[in-house]
Amino acid sequence: IRIFVPIDAAALSVGAESVARGIAREAQARGLAVEIVRNGSRGMLWLEPLVEVETPAGRIAYGPVAGKDVAGLFDADFQSGGSHALRLGLTEELDWMKRQQRLTFERIGVTDPLSLADYRAHGGVAGLEKALALSADDVVEAVRASGLRGRGGAGFPTGTKWKTVQNARAEQKYIVCNADEGDSGTFADRMLIEGDPFLLIEGMTIAAIAVGATRGYIYLRSEYPHAFKTLQRAILKAQGAGILGDSVLGSRHAFHLEVRLGAGAYICGEETSLLESLEGKRALVRAKPPIPALQGLFGKPTIVNNVLSFAAVPWILDHGAQAYADYGLGRSRGTLPVQLGGNVKRGGLIELAFGISLREIIEDMGGGTLSGRPIRAVQVGGPLGAYLTAAQLDVAMDYEALAAMRAMLGHGGIVVFDDSVDMAKQARFAFEFCAKESCGKCTPCRIGATRGVEVMDRIIAGTERPKNLAVLRDLSKLMTDASLCAMGGLTPMPVLSALNHFPEDFDRPALPMA
Ligand code: NAI
Ligand code: SF4
Repeated sequence: IRIFVPIDAAALSVGAESVARGIAREAQARGLAVEIVRNGSRGMLWLEPLVEVETPAGRIAYGPVAGKDVAGLFDADFQSGGSHALRLGLTEELDWMKRQQRLTFERIGVTDPLSLADYRAHGGVAGLEKALALSADDVVEAVRASGLRGRGGAGFPTGTKWKTVQNARAEQKYIVCNADEGDSGTFADRMLIEGDPFLLIEGMTIAAIAVGATRGYIYLRSEYPHAFKTLQRAILKAQGAGILGDSVLGSRHAFHLEVRLGAGAYICGEETSLLESLEGKRALVRAKPPIPALQGLFGKPTIVNNVLSFAAVPWILDHGAQAYADYGLGRSRGTLPVQLGGNVKRGGLIELAFGISLREIIEDMGGGTLSGRPIRAVQVGGPLGAYLTAAQLDVAMDYEALAAMRAMLGHGGIVVFDDSVDMAKQARFAFEFCAKESCGKCTPCRIGATRGVEVMDRIIAGTERPKNLAVLRDLSKLMTDASLCAMGGLTPMPVLSALNHFPEDFDRPALPMA
C-alpha cells in the first residue's frame, strides 16, 4: 500500500510530519505493510495536510488530515480508499485539479521529489536528452519560438535573453537562478523546488548547454530551509547520475551547479544586487546597462532567470515550442503558475494558460473571500503590484491586459482583501515596505520612501489633505521616473492605484489620536 503525505513546507506547517508519523505507527500496530511517500503539495493549500492513497482506480485524496484523524481513517479502511468524512475522491477528478493545465507543475504532488527514477518515469530528463541532440542554436530557437517570457515578473522574452548570452564572446559564462522569491503572497518557486527539484536542475542544464556555460548557481531565499536541503540532495543525486558534472549525460558539455543561500533582504532578488550578493558583496543594485546577459556574475555573460522560467524549458524541449505556444493568447504564451492567497476560501497554486479572468480564479477556484464579506480590492503581482477593484476582476491574466490598466502580472501572486481593508493604510504600507527594503543606492527611493510614509501619515491624520495629496502624486511621479531599479520605480504603483480606485479612503474623517 502506498500512501502519500506531502513534505512541502506549507503542509509541514499545518502538521504533515505528525500525520506521516501517525500513519507509520498505526500501520505497524495493525500489521499493514504501508510505504509512505513524501510528495510535493498538489497546491490545494486549504486541504493540507492532503493525504493520498494509491488504489487501482487512481489516487484517492483525504484532507485536511490531522494527527488525531489517523486511527479513524484506518478504521474506515482508507488505505483501500474507504469512505470517511475527510474523503475527497480521486485527486485528479477534483475540480481544482481538473480545471488546470499543468505543464510546469505536472509532476508536483505526483512523484517523490528526490527519486530520479520517479522523475524519469514521469517524463523527466527527456527535454535535456532532446536538447543534447540539437544544436545550441536550435535549443535557443525553441525557447524563443515557445513565446516563454520571464516568469520572475518582468516578462522579458527568455529566448532573446539566452540569444544575447549565446552570442557573447567570453571564456566563462554563468547560469544563475533567481530563487529569492520575495514577493508577498508568492510561493510557486518554493513549491517547485520542494516538489520537483530535478526539473529546475534540468532547465538550468539545458540553458548551460545552449549558451556554453559551465557553472551555475541557484540563489535561494534564506527563509526556505526545506527547499535548501532538497536542492542540495537533488544536486548530489544529479551529479551521481551524470546529469551534472564534467560530461552532462556523456556529452562534451560540462555543467557544475551550486546553491547559495540569500542574504535575507527583498532587494537581493533584484538581479544585479543578487549578483553582487553572489560575489560576496553587499546587495547594492548595479546600474544597467550593462545588462547581466553581457556583464553579469564576475563581469561575465550570465543568464539570470527565475525558477519558473528555467522550469518551463524541459517541457518545451520535450513537447516542442509550438505545443507550449498553443497555450495562452497574444504575446502571453504558455501557462502561468498563479498563487492565490489573502482573504480567500480556497488558496493555493493554480497553473493555467494565460487568458483566464481574475474573477474566475478568485470566485470559481478560490470560492470568494474566507470572511464571506464582499471583495473590495485585489493586489496582483506582489507588494509592488497595483490594487484592482471588484469591478475590474474581469481582466484577463495576461501581461498586456494588466499593463493596459496600469497593473502588472509580476510573479503571479494574487492577494484578496474584503471590504474591511483600509486602502490609505495599504498605500502607507507600500512606502513603509520600500523604506525598509530599499538598498539605499539612489535618492528617489532612499529618501522618497521615507517621505512617502510621512505624507501618508499626514493624509491619514487629516492634516492639510489637498496639499499632501498633491505632494503624494508628485513624489510618486518622481520615484517612478527617477529610481534606479523596480523597487523604488514600482512602489508608486500600489500607492497610486489605491488613491485612484479608492479615493474615499484618503478622505475619511481622521480618528482621534490615541
Ligand atoms: P527589467 O525589465 O529591467 O528586466 C527584465 C530582464 O530582462 C532582466 O533580466 C534584464 O537583464 C533582461 N534584459 C533587458 N533587456 C535585455 C536585452 N536587451 N537582452 C537581454 N536581456 C535583457 O525588469 P527587472 O528589474 O529585472 O524586474 C522587475 C520585475 O521584477 C517587476 O516587474 C516585478 O514583477 C518583478 N519582481 C519579482 C519579485 C519576485 O519575488 N519574483 C520581487 C520583486 C519584483
Ligand atoms: Fe536601491 Fe531603491 Fe534605488 Fe533600487 S530604487 S537602486 S532599491 S535605492
